[in-house]
Amino acid sequence: MTEQQYGYFDDQHKEYVITSPFTPTPWINYLGNDGFYGLISNTAGGYCFYRDPKFRRLLRYRYNNVPADQGGRYFYLKSADTVWSAAGRPVQTELDHYECRHGLGYSRFIAKKAQIRSELTCFVPLGQTAEVYRLELTNLDAVSRQVSLFSLLEWCLWNAEDDGANFQRNLSTGEVEVDGNVIYHKTEYRERRNHYAFYGVNHPIRGFDTDRDSFLGPYRGFDRPLAVERGQAGNSLAHGWSPVASHHIDLQLQAGQSQTLVFVLGYVELPNDQKWAAPGVINKAPAKDLLTRYDSAQKCQAELDRLQQYWLSQLNKFQIETPDKRFDRSLNIWNQYQNMVTFNLSRSASFYESGIGRGMGFRDSNQDTIGFAHMVPDKVRERILDLSATQKKDGSAYHQYQPLTKKGNANIGGNFNDDPMWMVLSTVNYIKESGDFSILEARVGFDDEPGDFTHFEHLKRAFEHVVNHLGPHGLPLIGRADWNDCLNLNCFSEDPNESYQTTQRGASDVAESLMIAGQFVLYGNEFVALCRHTGRTELAAWAQQQVDNMVEAVNQHGWDGQWFLRAFDARGRKIGSAENDEGKIFIESQGFCVMAGIGLGDGRARQALDAVSERLACEHGIMLQQPAFSGYDKYLGEISSYPPGYKENAGIFCHNNPWIIIGESMLGRGDQAYEYFARISPAFLQEKQRLHKTEPYVYSQMIAGRDAATPGQAKNSWLTGTAAWCFYTASQYLAGIRPDYEGLRIDPCIPARWPGFKAQRTFRQALYEIEVRNPQGLSKGRVELEVDGEAIEGNLIPYARFGGRHRIVATLRTAD
Ligand code: BGC
Ligand code: NOJ
Repeated sequence: MTEQQYGYFDDQHKEYVITSPFTPTPWINYLGNDGFYGLISNTAGGYCFYRDPKFRRLLRYRYNNVPADQGGRYFYLKSADTVWSAAGRPVQTELDHYECRHGLGYSRFIAKKAQIRSELTCFVPLGQTAEVYRLELTNLDAVSRQVSLFSLLEWCLWNAEDDGANFQRNLSTGEVEVDGNVIYHKTEYRERRNHYAFYGVNHPIRGFDTDRDSFLGPYRGFDRPLAVERGQAGNSLAHGWSPVASHHIDLQLQAGQSQTLVFVLGYVELPNDQKWAAPGVINKAPAKDLLTRYDSAQKCQAELDRLQQYWLSQLNKFQIETPDKRFDRSLNIWNQYQNMVTFNLSRSASFYESGIGRGMGFRDSNQDTIGFAHMVPDKVRERILDLSATQKKDGSAYHQYQPLTKKGNANIGGNFNDDPMWMVLSTVNYIKESGDFSILEARVGFDDEPGDFTHFEHLKRAFEHVVNHLGPHGLPLIGRADWNDCLNLNCFSEDPNESYQTTQRGASDVAESLMIAGQFVLYGNEFVALCRHTGRTELAAWAQQQVDNMVEAVNQHGWDGQWFLRAFDARGRKIGSAENDEGKIFIESQGFCVMAGIGLGDGRARQALDAVSERLACEHGIMLQQPAFSGYDKYLGEISSYPPGYKENAGIFCHNNPWIIIGESMLGRGDQAYEYFARISPAFLQEKQRLHKTEPYVYSQMIAGRDAATPGQAKNSWLTGTAAWCFYTASQYLAGIRPDYEGLRIDPCIPARWPGFKAQRTFRQALYEIEVRNPQGLSKGRVELEVDGEAIEGNLIPYARFGGRHRIVATLRTAD
């Protein structure tokens, strides 16, 4: 390990091990799978919530604070006169040993100080609305030691936005109850809330605190609470102000002795008629029930084992073994894990998304399914139908919806014209994965026309929406924005107090997008194939005609000479053209037009990707456009608001790098495709931890580009479409293991130096053990397929014949 590093992969345990509490940014993990989620940093900072991070937040967390990462699950330890934190912070006492192990659905913190070893394991048990903290303390000394332990959580008063803003009210509303070892948080339960939270421990306590100021002492931070310094809790009862939950426990540990305590932070909902046990006294039965589930170290271990089994069974659906360990650990562990988290949370709550702003994005959530459909197809089905229900009858979609209500957000509305076609991608990918055509017949109303429509009808309207919104060149109207939220060609904003995306000046709404054109051809072709597959031949013929027209429009108006244009703006001017001074070439239209197959036959696809390699690719990845915009231009919008090299203004927006990688794989350029993949993939960036800054085990949304002051520095880790797209690309186009309606296709595009690779893939009810052989040193080739020793024509394993466990050998050969 070099001096630059803050941690390393432990593949055997499927953990990332962080070796310093002072990482460049808080390096986080997520707990929970099923509606109850926690964000947890490498020093146990963060918060948890039930379903909605804005409306049901349990813990208070202070974004953008100093020091960073304030609020979390704190355990203060005190022995003799030394005070420290079991997770390395907030107390800044230097530890003799510190280690944070972020694993699959749990985080473990190991600390040693003053001859006391602590091991804190935090997790959300499967299917539960609780975080469990198992804390094992061991006396490493040769003599008996006294240890005082103080837990601390700070309650958020449920609505996270109000909690951080409406102090005139919320400093008066906080309420708690204390009953034995359990502290209950019941703010607003007296009125309209039917939920409370609690924090309990399976050990008698010496005291407690529920009033923050009593525990911390006046004007003190979390780093040196007065109660801990005194060695005595104040038994304070909060009335308004800031309620917290702190237990005080004194332990006497003999030489070498260990003791394990279990803390449970839980969330309870009750029907209105069962809320109270007596006037003013809450019904504690469900909380007690939850507490007894985890009231011993053994019970915790059993739950942790169950969690681990769950994760192994998820990951085992796709496992690969190539000559490159970095590629393997990325695909086998971390990328799939990130896909689950991103699927669950969309862009709502991370250390960069405050959990109060954005709900579930329509385009984001549809794209997230493509990295996840192989894991839990049922959840994908449900998500797609939820999204479908937010669609409007004209085929457009609400840009976002709120997870608690599943209703579209009216304040943002729709008219992001790429949105609808993403649902074709998610649906087609889901059906190919699962074989479940019945989703097409599922009944879903439109947001503005409830009723008995099929989901297929929704896809048709999505397709029609593009057809019905074409501009002067026969190309799709961009609306408020396409995939690039910051290319706001119809907005013209000069007022810093308004939104770039939802404001429109004047009547002009005629800007057109080549990204949507490519997207329409790509997923339009998929729509046609789906129609054919389901016997809708007339519709297929009509749809094919629309797609052909679009190809024609792109050929006629969308080719700039060396690459694809990006857009026509509201004044009919070209965006992403050699004739511009800045923003001459953009990545999105190159990616989408090539993926759609436009220019594959006549060399323009190759030309476009060569231009990408020459003009957009840099050491750290492929930049969004070049040259960067040097100043704000109201005709371009938010893209030009960012300093050069950051975010959409010529940053490396990792999300769209895979589009180019797929394009390269279609050209058969496996070495180039792999090289691009390696530039942005976290498992390949271990040596760059300090520069990169964000967690080295997950993708970040953006890496600063060549024009930035800090090229190579990443931001916005975890919740990004990059995760799904990178897994989809690496598994389906590099490894080339690609689901299709009739079976699994094997069509790899790999570095020519690879002698081959092995993979294990669960596909519907089948399990395929796949070996790819590359005896001629090719990147791509004609695939010779054998199933259980029997030669099969083509590169598809027909599912109807091979639905069980089978051994596949795929040999790459030069086309002869
Ligand atoms: C960001 C985009 C994001 C958008 C969402 C912008 O400020 O730059 O990446 O998609 O906000 O509204
Ligand atoms: C992040 C947003 O979540 C996504 O929807 C958008 O496509 C990209 N930014 C690019 O602007």
